[in-house]
Amino acid sequence: MAAVRFADGDWAEDAEFAAYGAATPALRALDAETAHDVAVAALALGLGPRRRRRDGEALRVEALGTTFSNPIGLAAGFDKDARAFEALLRVGFGFVEIGSVTPKPQPGNPKPRAFRLREHGAVINRYGFNSQGHESARTRLARRRDAVAAEGDDATAEPRGVLGVNLGKNKLTPEDNAADDYVLGVENIGEFGDYIVVNISSPNTPGLRNLQGRKHLSGLLRKVLDARDKNPGTAKTPVLVKIAPDLTDAALRDIASVVKSEKVDGVIVSNTTIARPDAIKAHAHGDEAGGLSGKPLMEPSTKVLHDLYKLTGGKITLVGCGGIASGEDAYAKIRAGASLVQLYTAFAFEGPPLIPRIKRELEECLARDGFKSVQDAIGAAHRK
Ligand SMILES: Cc1cc2nc3c(=O)[nH]c(=O)nc-3n(C[C@H](O)[C@H](O)[C@H](O)COP(=O)(O)O)c2cc1C
Repeated sequence: MAAVRFADGDWAEDAEFAAYGAATPALRALDAETAHDVAVAALALGLGPRRRRRDGEALRVEALGTTFSNPIGLAAGFDKDARAFEALLRVGFGFVEIGSVTPKPQPGNPKPRAFRLREHGAVINRYGFNSQGHESARTRLARRRDAVAAEGDDATAEPRGVLGVNLGKNKLTPEDNAADDYVLGVENIGEFGDYIVVNISSPNTPGLRNLQGRKHLSGLLRKVLDARDKNPGTAKTPVLVKIAPDLTDAALRDIASVVKSEKVDGVIVSNTTIARPDAIKAHAHGDEAGGLSGKPLMEPSTKVLHDLYKLTGGKITLVGCGGIASGEDAYAKIRAGASLVQLYTAFAFEGPPLIPRIKRELEECLARDGFKSVQDAIGAAHRK
């Protein structure tokens, strides 16, 4: 189905993004989950604006063995079943992460399970890994790979964008067998990702976050990395682990030491938080169970990122996530040590126009502070 298309040129890109931006408030009339379903269904049909401007040189990042035309990614959870990632990449994200995908299909928690706290730029969700499972994601991802292969390589084309595959575990898989679910993920769908994520930090699957503890973590990661190394389709694919923001200093030190010793390629900091700042507690939805995302998460998740950069000596690729709603926010994460950043909640509120705006603002922050590129600004807060 043809999307709304304007002519070529910068003015046309602006007009097209503005048109989709104007459509976003219509979704506000719907409850959070229905609005999300409608957006994903529209994108899956090919609707959605298309970035035409090439990303500026200053935004390019070399990380995880690949080139990102810009460091702004879509975080996991928006395209859980790999239905809309191509349209999302066309919006202008430097990378899109599908998932979390669980091995077997599972329905997740009963509805309602997502709540907007609009005045706070925040969401509380307790989806609990609703997932169509590996097989269904595999079919969709394979279709895309075949189409890309049929097109061949066009050196003059814009980069297609980078795809991440985020793995979860089924609710009914016991904690002691959790590694099996992630290994299956590597074997079944890992080959389609430019990188793979081991998500052990969602607050909505009982026991999941215990896997971040020293007792489980090194064994779990060793099994996943072994599976990655053995599988010809994934042998060169970086593996990242995604962590929670609610960690004690000792727990973060443990994670840093395991990640270094097991040679994990990167860490995503962070998932949603189970904490509830006072302002959130006062909101009508503030005491809903689940993970809090969006603006209230910016400061705590950036602190964890900053600390982890210090603990890992800047030697491991960090992806900053949590509360980004502007170029200034993305820039703060990069200075704290992120090579790449991701967002979800602000995109859900503001829609596609947010992405060109964040990229423009990030370029302005870099120029203001005399950095030639994102790459030069990574970890700048640690260099005085
Ligand atoms: C509705 C919703 C669903 C999410 N589902 C997942 C998921 O399946 N896997 C995952 O790793 N993170 C998931 N997340 C967490 C996001 O990827 C991200 O880490 C978090 O929301 C913080 O970023 P933000 O403040 O920009 O939203 C979800 C977040 C939201 C709001």
